[in-house]
Amino acid sequence: MDWPRLIETPRLQLRDMRAGDAQDVFDAYASDPEVLRYLGWRQHESVEDTRQRISYDIHRWMKGSAWVWGLSLKAPHPQAGRVFGQIELAPMSFPSDEAHHLRLGYLMSSRYWGQGLMAEAVRAVLAVAFAHAHVWRVDALCDVDNVYSMAMLARIGMPCEGRLRRALSHPNVSHQPRDAWVHALSRDDWLTRLQQAGPATSAALACADQSR
Ligand SMILES: CC(C)(COP(=O)(O)OP(=O)(O)OC[C@H]1O[C@@H](n2cnc3c(N)ncnc32)[C@H](O)[C@@H]1OP(=O)(O)O)[C@@H](O)C(=O)NCCC(=O)NCCS
Repeated sequence: MDWPRLIETPRLQLRDMRAGDAQDVFDAYASDPEVLRYLGWRQHESVEDTRQRISYDIHRWMKGSAWVWGLSLKAPHPQAGRVFGQIELAPMSFPSDEAHHLRLGYLMSSRYWGQGLMAEAVRAVLAVAFAHAHVWRVDALCDVDNVYSMAMLARIGMPCEGRLRRALSHPNVSHQPRDAWVHALSRDDWLTRLQQAGPATSAALACADQSR
């Protein structure tokens, strides 16, 4: 599967992660227990932990086991270019380079919560995903207590399909596996949405993958 290393939205740049992002990622979210609460990650103790995580993500991209984009604001924002969050897609069916089912994951610095930024990033990544004709389902699992994530998924029109019992490991909340809500969008939903959006929006949505 061919994935763009750069995706642009009105306010954001999504680009592949680099070793040089480690300090920004550590400061913005990898060292913040509030951000990591409902994730499988442990809080990073040092920038070295973050460097290792980024090299793992770079390796996953090369192997095709996940595609991770760092989020940064566009100029003229004073923090432009500095990674403050990330979003990923991982194949959930095989062969992974033709996976029909992808899973979304995302997190970002609490400094930027509540501004609709992740919704903007998710919409762009969905457009890139469904631009691949073999992609039929994109879903996201979130902890049953992660209200911000549920609200964001509902707002962008990824309906909740139900509750998965003991599906996620969130060691920052509990040592026992946690229940999760599964939110999903199918290719059928996506195509209906494109048709309803009308020609101009539809073209914009379909072309949101501004691969470079
Ligand atoms: C989940 C997350 C990505 C949402 O991103 P976001 O850009 O803040 O999303 P939105 O701006 O669309 O806000 C989502 C909801 O949370 C609410 N919210 C966000 N931050 C808030 C805050 N500090 N106080 C109160 N409400 C807040 C928003 O009002 C919104 O609810 P609404 O749709 O009912 O108005 C972000 O909260 C995050 O990174 N959380 C930590 C990591 C995480 O949990 N990742 C998801 C794992 S499934």
